[in-house]
Amino acid sequence: MISEKILSEFNEQVKHEFFSANYYLAMAAYCKHLELEGFANFFIVQTEEERFHAMKFFNFINNLGGRAYITALDEPQNEFNSLEEIFAAALKHEEFVTDRINHLMDIAVNEKNYACVSFLNWFVDEQVEELTTIGGLLTKVKRIGENSNAIYLMDAELAKRTFTPPTTEK
Ligand code: FEO
Repeated sequence: MISEKILSEFNEQVKHEFFSANYYLAMAAYCKHLELEGFANFFIVQTEEERFHAMKFFNFINNLGGRAYITALDEPQNEFNSLEEIFAAALKHEEFVTDRINHLMDIAVNEKNYACVSFLNWFVDEQVEELTTIGGLLTKVKRIGENSNAIYLMDAELAKRTFTPPTTEK
């Protein structure tokens, strides 16, 4: 069972997760424009993760007998001035998403909907990981600044990232 309030908030989250995917794709496009293929790869993998998050909400809504609605997305920011600006924007966005997940958890707990609580626990853990990863990369790009050798090494490191969806999905 799923209340109208949870249904509406979860549908809202499908939108936020798809927006996140587009936002990271815009960041990937900027990195490609700079010919930083490793940084671009990092954000393309991030895009795939966000689509995966969106589909998790989409599938969960359907599994609980609700109906998912797909709505229009705002255009993401496409222009950036530096790698530091990109990672700062990504971190700010993940802080927003973390607040959203906490908000959903508050509602689920308040309604004593333990199926939703269990589902959302995965996202609570995921957000800790996202904030740690992106926060760490922001610190790194701040430290290396305009040092082209260090940027080259970081680009090579980020080129290795791949997307592997978890196998035990609901
Ligand atoms: Fe789906 Fe990056 O939060």
